[in-house]
Amino acid sequence: MEKMNIGMVGAGFMAKAHSIAYAGMPMFFWPAPAIPVKKIIADVNETLAKEAKEKFAFETYTTNWQDIVNDPNIDVVDICTPNNTHAEIAIAAAKAGKHILCEKPLSLTPSEAEDMYIAARDNKVTTMVAFNYRRTPAVQLAKKYIDEGALGDILDFRGTYLQDWSADPSSPLSWRFQKDICGSGALGDIGTHVVDMLRFLVGDFARVNARTATYIKDRPIQNAGIDSLGNVKANNTTPRKPVDVDDQCIFMIECKNGAFGSIEATRNAWGRNNYITFEIHGTKGSVYFNYERRDELQVCFADDKSDRRGFRTVYTGPNHPYGDGLWPIPALGIGYTETKIVETYDFFKAIAESGETSPNFRDGYAIELISDAILTSAHTRSWVEVPEIEEN
Ligand code: NAI
Repeated sequence: MEKMNIGMVGAGFMAKAHSIAYAGMPMFFWPAPAIPVKKIIADVNETLAKEAKEKFAFETYTTNWQDIVNDPNIDVVDICTPNNTHAEIAIAAAKAGKHILCEKPLSLTPSEAEDMYIAARDNKVTTMVAFNYRRTPAVQLAKKYIDEGALGDILDFRGTYLQDWSADPSSPLSWRFQKDICGSGALGDIGTHVVDMLRFLVGDFARVNARTATYIKDRPIQNAGIDSLGNVKANNTTPRKPVDVDDQCIFMIECKNGAFGSIEATRNAWGRNNYITFEIHGTKGSVYFNYERRDELQVCFADDKSDRRGFRTVYTGPNHPYGDGLWPIPALGIGYTETKIVETYDFFKAIAESGETSPNFRDGYAIELISDAILTSAHTRSWVEVPEIEEN
């Protein structure tokens, strides 16, 4: 079985998730499309890089991501750094002929995303953007029902991603609140996951009409280090700086196929944790998904007898997408790790077989165009067309 040498950039939250996924993938999906070998991990913070080498079981570490890109033994560059670094690393990796798994959102701007897409396309490398939530088996089951026509024509949909980890004004101004590092706030950080899922399930977006808000206007400065996602609070003597991204966004969407919907994302919704939901209505039925109950898909089919028609719960298991690799009994419990393991499996399968993945850098670029249209719409308070990708 082929071995694939991984160079990972960034040693924070996502480095942990991806490292577990590399170890776990062959244990779930056998024969595995490749055996990932954790070769090098890079972080600008040497203490973190060194510690990550030990705890995530890499062979070596560096403080310079170029060491990874320039290493002829590396097959895959895995980008787990804040958003402002993705473009430079990915373009260099593509030019060096490396396959690339890149965390979301793909970039800060559509123009960066376009350069990344073109570099990957022209150098014929396989890419994947880590919108892992769509790889939850229940989300894939919703896709299967839609593709089979079991819901009929899709009429409308609504999606949410609600969290509360930044609702406290003493949560520090980490990189997720600085536009030059993150690009946008709740929109890019969490809203894009729902954009990816609904674009995958329902179809491409044609135009959007959005509102954004920044509720907490300044936060205590955090100079460097990983984002503690609100778990470490600053004391009230820490100097504060303005927040220049959105805390909340809500937008209406018209899809190219005529379906109409809305998406809402906030990190200031007290009581909500990782509340990713969607409900989709078609002419023949509906589906409802809530990530906080991620083994379950709620379904209602119009042709059920009228005296028993209503939402029922399907617990995903061996008869559902990825069920042959995951757990042998429904409702044993799909976790965040499993979504990353499935992502890793699909990525290596694509490298071994067709090279085709989804979401790839072209999808990531399409989502950057949507995000940009959302921000423009919020600014102009009007409907904004989502530009088409022009191949050149
Ligand atoms: P983090 O703050 O936990 O870790 C980022 C690490 O990157 C830090 O250790 C930092 O020192 C390092 N770093 C920064 N610039 C670097 C550079 N030039 N070279 C090497 N290391 C550098 O960040 P986290 O949460 O892991 O986020 C990373 C990426 O993953 C972001 O794009 C984020 O949006 C995405 N993400 C995706 C999630 C998902 O569910 N798919 C969940 C959380 C984050």
